[in-house]
Amino acid sequence: MGQLIKVEATPLGRVALFSTDRSITGQDGVSVIPGDRQGDDPPHDLAGRLFGADQQIDHVHVLSNTVAVRRKQSWDEEAVGRAAGVIANLFIHYGETEAPETDEFERLRTENYNATLSHIRAHNDDLWVIQVTPDQPIDPFQPGQYTTLALGYWEPRADEAHDVLKPDQDQKMARRSYSVSSSMIDESGALLPPHTPDVEFYIVKVKPGQEEIPALTPRLFMKKEGDRLYMGHKFTGHYTLEGVEPTDNIVFLSTGTGEAPQNAMIAELLRRDHQGRILDVVCVRYKSDLAYTRQHAVLVDRYPKYRYVTITTREPENEGEKVYIQDLISSGRIEEELGAPLDPERTHVFLCGNPAMIGLPKWTEDGLEFPETLGVCQQLHELGFVIDHRKERGNVHYEEYWTDR
Ligand SMILES: Cc1cc2nc3c(=O)[nH]c(=O)nc-3n(C[C@H](O)[C@H](O)[C@H](O)COP(=O)(O)OP(=O)(O)OC[C@H]3O[C@@H](n4cnc5c(N)ncnc54)[C@H](O)[C@@H]3O)c2cc1C
Ligand SMILES: NC(=O)c1ccc[n+]([C@@H]2O[C@H](COP(=O)([O-])OP(=O)(O)OC[C@H]3O[C@@H](n4cnc5c(N)ncnc54)[C@H](OP(=O)(O)O)[C@@H]3O)[C@@H](O)[C@H]2O)c1
Repeated sequence: MGQLIKVEATPLGRVALFSTDRSITGQDGVSVIPGDRQGDDPPHDLAGRLFGADQQIDHVHVLSNTVAVRRKQSWDEEAVGRAAGVIANLFIHYGETEAPETDEFERLRTENYNATLSHIRAHNDDLWVIQVTPDQPIDPFQPGQYTTLALGYWEPRADEAHDVLKPDQDQKMARRSYSVSSSMIDESGALLPPHTPDVEFYIVKVKPGQEEIPALTPRLFMKKEGDRLYMGHKFTGHYTLEGVEPTDNIVFLSTGTGEAPQNAMIAELLRRDHQGRILDVVCVRYKSDLAYTRQHAVLVDRYPKYRYVTITTREPENEGEKVYIQDLISSGRIEEELGAPLDPERTHVFLCGNPAMIGLPKWTEDGLEFPETLGVCQQLHELGFVIDHRKERGNVHYEEYWTDR
């Protein structure tokens, strides 16, 4: 199997130096540019993988335990993580374990999969809205809930990274949770019914980082319509509209694909003819990371009580003045957009996506202990809101897509 290499990265403008805990070449060093021979010794193999992982990379120099990698543009955090992941995995060899034959893959698929990827709306190469049709009908579930999607570790990956698998894990499935999303309206602009035979999900392809090799999304993004996968039949979670009164104001705050369950709940509130105001705020890196703007525009047009606000953080106009959802709360813009004060007596706030935006506290004997970086939970707590905790239902509800703790 080989061992992961430990890597430390030092980006310096267009060049990043990666020092490794073992030598990859002798003291002579090897320089490689795209188009050079690639692959038959470790430095050329490494250079080929780096070019494949990031098309911005135009020069790789390997000398002993230092890899100098040059990009056409400056390094950012994501590019550094990706390159470090490629270097870390250089000596992980999968050919050493016996790869199952193709008909073995087919047998595993038949045994394990229970649903079909019936439709893919590729908003961009890394962001999909998909419909999954289960072989057997599923019981009704509540808007906001989630289930499991899974694919076998035997499935090919869309990236250059290599999973570090335990023995026999290559015959198991990578399982992840996904909130059920909703396109909210049909082609005529009418609200979709609460239950359809297909289940919709909104999924971003995660890129490999220095320490984490994502398992499921790089495999999912290799699939095409008609391919098979696993979908759990248990739909669960407390991130629902339970406890919301018809006249309450509702504020949905999300990052990235965190808008998935909000969409399902917004459609439900509008179907119920909810009387309070509904504000939906989505924060993404780039405008191109918003896959439901057309549907939201139709809803805004039809339902005066509904408002949809998006913010980006990495477009050229955001340079030097990044605004997060937390800033919209402290500046008063959320209340402006809602058209009402953030009054805990008659407002529910739903937070979904990046855990740093949510900023969930620890519940200790001395009270709530909030994370160092200000999150929305702390801001709302200071305004008198109550955060859901275990079975106690408050008026701040959250779904973290991963944990930072
Ligand atoms: C209850 C619940 C509901 C979820 N619903 C969705 C959903 O509707 N859509 C969706 O895309 N993901 C959703 N996720 C995340 C999802 O379960 C996977 O973690 C994600 O798709 C990446 O899977 P992976 O195996 O490729 O990488 P993983 O090994 O699972 O994740 C690697 C790293 O990628 C980052 N990451 C994970 N998910 C995201 C994300 N959505 N956006 C940005 N960075 C991320 C984190 O840093 C994480 O540590 C949900 C998670 C939970 C717990
Ligand atoms: N967007 C892309 O370019 C893109 C494209 C394809 C795939 N991916 C992959 O998808 C994954 C991440 O996707 P994502 O962009 O959807 O999710 P994300 O990293 O959670 O970012 C979503 C939004 O949350 C913001 N955010 C980050 N920290 C915050 C904090 N402390 N408080 C409030 N907001 C915060 C981000 O701003 P920041 O700008 O500060 O991060 C961004 O605007 C990565 O693996 C990435 O490689 C991303």
